[in-house]
Amino acid sequence: MAFNIAIDGPAGAGKSTVAKRVAKELSYIYVDTGAMYRAMALFFLREGIAGEDEAAIRAACERVSVTLSNEGGEQQVFLNGENVNGLIREEKVGAMAAAVGAYRAVREKLTQLQREMAAGTDLVMDGRDIGTCVLPDAQVKVYLTASVETRGRRRFLELQEKGVGCSLEKICEDIEKRDFQDMNREISPLRQAEDAVLIDSSDLGIEEVTGKILDLARARREQEQAEG
Ligand code: DC
Repeated sequence: MAFNIAIDGPAGAGKSTVAKRVAKELSYIYVDTGAMYRAMALFFLREGIAGEDEAAIRAACERVSVTLSNEGGEQQVFLNGENVNGLIREEKVGAMAAAVGAYRAVREKLTQLQREMAAGTDLVMDGRDIGTCVLPDAQVKVYLTASVETRGRRRFLELQEKGVGCSLEKICEDIEKRDFQDMNREISPLRQAEDAVLIDSSDLGIEEVTGKILDLARARREQEQAEG
């Protein structure tokens, strides 16, 4: 059976940075499910479909194919065959992803794809509903969080480094809005799975968080080996 590590948590908690490191250390594949929601969101934006128009989104789902490949340890996302990796990080794409992630048609399509990938491959998958819904039997589940202030500050510094003007207050507001959307949708809301280990990264560095997850994964693997 494949060994799956599920990492869930709110936007900006550092999931992708840490998940990528854990995957590299274990020579596992890293799957960023947020990028899949973002690719679908980009399709709907290009089609001019409103985020509130569930019927149009459901119909459009039949025309979307999202696939992933791994090149040199970096995940590449393809939308109907086009590599859209460089086009999905804008705030408007993230906002659309959060809006359409509420719809059953979108979630079912991506959940199925994610389960197929995890069935035969050792991987680290990050998202919002991996431990609770996509991979309920994952061998390791982590819920990674941090305070709104910490996540806002990290995002603020990231944007400043890129030379993008922004206000810390507005960033924190956006984060709170995204948390609310992700935690309060009807289908597969963001929440900590009962058997997930909670890690608050507010006062921890990337290395410390990575080390904690690696310890959990190694302990679990040893346990499995001992049980034969
Ligand atoms: O992790 P991210 O910021 O790239 O995700 C963008 C949005 O996609 C997030 O606000 C909600 C949605 N999403 C989801 O509903 N389920 C996932 N497993 C991953 C992302």
